[in-house]
Amino acid sequence: MAYLGESIPKLGFGLMRLPKLDDETIDIEQVKQMVDLFMEAGCTYFDTARAYTGSEAAIRKALVERYPRESFQLATKNAAWIKAKDADEAQADFYISLEETGAGYFDFYLIHNTGGPRTAVFDKFGMWDFVKQLKADGKVKHIGFSHHDNAERLDEVITAHPEMEFVQLQVNYADWDNANTQSRKCVEVAQKHGLPIVIMEPVRGGTLATPPEQVAEVLRASNPDRSFPDWAPLVPGLGAAVRHGRAEPGHRSLRDVEHPADAG
Ligand SMILES: NC(=O)c1ccc[n+]([C@@H]2O[C@H](COP(=O)([O-])OP(=O)(O)OC[C@H]3O[C@@H](n4cnc5c(N)ncnc54)[C@H](OP(=O)(O)O)[C@@H]3O)[C@@H](O)[C@H]2O)c1
Repeated sequence: MAYLGESIPKLGFGLMRLPKLDDETIDIEQVKQMVDLFMEAGCTYFDTARAYTGSEAAIRKALVERYPRESFQLATKNAAWIKAKDADEAQADFYISLEETGAGYFDFYLIHNTGGPRTAVFDKFGMWDFVKQLKADGKVKHIGFSHHDNAERLDEVITAHPEMEFVQLQVNYADWDNANTQSRKCVEVAQKHGLPIVIMEPVRGGTLATPPEQVAEVLRASNPDRSFPDWAPLVPGLGAAVRHGRAEPGHRSLRDVEHPADAG
């Protein structure tokens, strides 16, 4: 399925929770095996972030140094609100990401986690213009942002920054009508603006893989052959939107669930 002009299978590899050794460092050998399985399955989209400690260096060893650069897409993110004291420090993070990953360029570069007071930090440090310039200079192919706030704030960000090409949202059945996450409303806002969606936390950080027994009973009764995580991104409406090309998750999408044979 075409995604922002690229042909990318819809299941992505998130690098936020990598396996660790006893000394709490990332288990690179296991990550290599995970990367190999993922690539063998025909998937190519990897999602890291400067803020995922050790993850950019891990993906360099497990992927970048072992596969041709054009055989995968790499996304990373800039979370200027975490500790940057000024615009120079915030923008320098991009070059640290380039060095840590050894990737040469990024296919997708995200402003990491808009919402609350964090959006104001991105504004203050000129990060929107900065990422636009990175794209113009060919250092990144596509620019977008991830959002952790309500739909009204999402609407404000998209309206203020029409140059953003995609948004990364939490989408799963538990967050769909959650008053804080507002997945459904956020998806509707993105669709209203025609903005492609990349899904994050499809299994709600793993919690939907082991639902409470009352929920488990309902799911088993509906379809005993379907695993609990398989239900997780199943939310009403999104599948149709995906089919009509208005939302094209780079990560696992509802389309995979509704049309398993068509899952890319
Ligand atoms: N602001 C942002 O930009 C942002 C925020 C959150 C996430 N993300 C991105 O989205 C990615 C995914 O988020 P997430 O880690 O919260 O995703 P998730 O898919 O909701 O949760 C993954 C967790 O679910 C667990 N799990 C247990 N059983 C599973 C099963 N049968 N199938 C799949 N997972 C199962 C996994 O355990 P195991 O580890 O044992 O497999 C893992 O710890 C992240 O890695 C990151 O790249 C971005």
